[in-house]
Amino acid sequence: MTRARRLGPLVFWLAAATATGAPTYVGSATCRRCHPDVVMSFSRNPHYKAQVEHPDARDQGGCESCHGPASEHVAAGGGKSNLAAFSVMPSRQVLDACLRCHSNSLGRASVRGSSHSLAQIACNQCHSVHKSPVQKFLLAREQRDLCYGCHQTVKAQFSMPFKHRVNEGFMSCADCHNPHGAAAPVWRMGARPRMTGVALQNEEPCLKCHTDKRGPFAFEHSGVRVDGCETCHSPHGSAHPRLLRRPAVFTLCLECHSGAGNFGRQGDGINMTSVTHSMTDPKFQNCTACHTRIHGSNADERFLR
Ligand code: HEC
Ligand code: HEC
Ligand code: HEC
Ligand code: HEC
Ligand code: HEC
Ligand code: HEC
Ligand code: HEC
Ligand code: HEC
Ligand code: HEC
Ligand code: HEC
Repeated sequence: MTRARRLGPLVFWLAAATATGAPTYVGSATCRRCHPDVVMSFSRNPHYKAQVEHPDARDQGGCESCHGPASEHVAAGGGKSNLAAFSVMPSRQVLDACLRCHSNSLGRASVRGSSHSLAQIACNQCHSVHKSPVQKFLLAREQRDLCYGCHQTVKAQFSMPFKHRVNEGFMSCADCHNPHGAAAPVWRMGARPRMTGVALQNEEPCLKCHTDKRGPFAFEHSGVRVDGCETCHSPHGSAHPRLLRRPAVFTLCLECHSGAGNFGRQGDGINMTSVTHSMTDPKFQNCTACHTRIHGSNADERFLR
């Protein structure tokens, strides 16, 4: 540097430009010298074939597609401030680095506005690019353990007497959730979507498996269609059969069909004390014994068959 200054302004400028200017791409072969293990295992990584978009990059699928041009890192024999070092990156920057290539599929899940992104949970907290112990998706841990690591209360819910068998390995969180975020759903529009995934046509994820509830029915129960399955069911687990939110079916129904002179309809409803639906008569408390098609019917507007 001192020598350059003596040689005149032009050389000084050139030297300064090299020192502070953009580092250049050196190619993955260079990394092998000091990171042999990482380079060796990389040929099995799905990123091996990733395109490096920078025109000056030496190779495709290279280390520098994520870590950026590394000439200064190599010249210095290491360091964290002279290349994209994920161990010291704030989560926003991690997102930027990964979304350079992954914005297409994840953009649909509005990943930048997801609850995880907003809580500063970045890609590399769930994915381990170099040391994933899992076969698929470069996950940092087995999916269930990964999620439970931060969501302990959910673990308890899946241990309840009635539950979806996630703990037993029959299904996974991702069957219902997209950990990257969720597109705005068409059900329960007033509520936050809780990063639930979607089935066909932006429907609730539940309908992927419970296809008989899909409809459309000639007579829809708007409680189902508008408010969504989770108004009546606890999706993870419940102390009550059928994953119901309440111990007795009629208390569930009466949340909306209050029976206070108007059994869910304007003016002409059934009174709670009426002969047909007296709530003091145990016979009427088991609503779904008569209203069997509670999720919707093609035959009867009162879901009786
Ligand atoms: C001359 C040896 C050398 C070469 C060549 C080299 N590195 Fe490194 N690298 C190091 C050393 C030493 C460290 C540890 C630095 C530290 O902990 O401060 C390191 C650390 C790193 C880290 C970790 C930063 C973090 O998050 O902690 C990354 C990423 C990295 N190198 C990528 C590369 C890539 C990509 C190449 C090839 C383009 C490369 N290195 C070539 C020596 C080298
Ligand atoms: C898809 C993006 C991506 C590519 C491509 C990539 N890395 Fe990394 N690298 C990361 C991330 C993210 C981390 C942080 C730790 C992790 O998630 O595994 C990391 C960490 C590292 C580290 C720190 C030590 C460690 O294992 O945690 C080194 C060294 C490193 N990378 C070198 C390389 C080399 C060499 C290549 C090319 C063979 C490469 N990386 C290709 C994303 C990438
Ligand atoms: C909260 C944990 C979590 C975070 C944060 C996360 N992922 Fe994922 N990712 C997963 C899980 C779990 C899967 C597997 C989903 C499945 O089984 O269907 C996955 C799958 C993927 C896949 C493959 C399937 C697909 O949907 O295309 C890609 C690519 C991916 N993630 C990239 C990213 C990127 C990029 C980021 C950061 C912007 C990120 N992930 C953040 C948990 C996470
Ligand atoms: C240079 C472009 C590029 C960058 C940057 C990049 N990826 Fe990828 N990624 C790809 C390509 C290409 C694939 C393989 C094709 C595919 O499955 O979509 C892939 C696949 C994946 C997968 C799916 C692996 C599987 O088993 O299917 C995950 C997870 C993933 N990337 C996570 C990340 C994370 C996390 C980062 C940031 C640390 C990142 N990627 C950065 C291009 C990139
Ligand atoms: C590193 C910790 C961490 C991991 C790992 C993690 N989460 Fe989260 N998750 C959070 C935080 C923090 C929030 C935000 C809490 C809040 O907003 O109340 C959150 C929120 C959520 C929400 C609620 C979204 C909402 O809008 O209310 C769901 C659903 C969720 N996570 C599912 C998952 C799934 C599925 C996995 C595994 C693939 C996972 N999480 C892994 C930390 C994590
Ligand atoms: C059967 C589908 C389904 C499965 C499987 C599932 N969830 Fe959920 N989860 C939902 C639905 C639906 C909601 C929204 C409930 C609501 O809005 O009342 C939700 C809400 C959540 C919330 C936010 C509300 C809360 O209770 O804090 C978190 C966090 C969450 N799930 C995490 C997970 C994790 C972690 C797993 C896997 C271990 C998982 N979920 C598996 C359907 C599911
Ligand atoms: C990946 C497929 C799948 C998804 C998605 C799914 N379920 Fe299930 N569900 C099942 C299976 C299989 C059972 C049978 C019970 C078991 O696993 O032991 C079940 C059982 C149930 C039961 C109890 C049935 C009974 O007879 O006791 C209810 C209620 C239920 N699911 C509601 C939902 C709701 C609500 C959602 C969405 C939040 C949902 N399911 C998403 C597969 C799924
Ligand atoms: C208005 C309340 C309500 C809503 C909303 C609701 N359910 Fe149900 N669901 C019930 C009741 C009550 C039962 C128990 C019926 C009985 O007593 O046999 C039940 C039973 C079930 C069962 C087990 C018995 C069967 O019919 O297969 C499944 C599976 C189920 N519901 C899935 C769903 C799905 C998926 C959704 C969303 C599309 C949903 N439910 C929305 C009230 C509701
Ligand atoms: C989340 C609110 C909600 C819950 C819970 C609910 N419903 Fe409904 N239900 C509605 C709405 C809204 C309508 C449409 C009323 C209308 O058309 O005026 C309706 C309509 C009906 C109808 C058709 C009545 C008519 O006017 O033709 C019957 C029968 C019915 N519900 C029975 C039940 C039963 C039985 C339960 C308990 C398993 C239940 N509902 C739970 C909201 C709910
Ligand atoms: C013994 C069978 C039976 C039971 C139990 C029963 N219902 Fe009904 N419900 C009927 C019949 C039949 C009709 C249609 C004829 C009528 O209006 O009385 C009906 C009509 C309705 C209607 C539509 C009222 C209207 O104005 O059209 C609603 C809402 C309703 N029931 C809700 C409930 C709820 C909520 C419960 C549980 C608390 C319940 N029913 C229990 C047989 C039953």
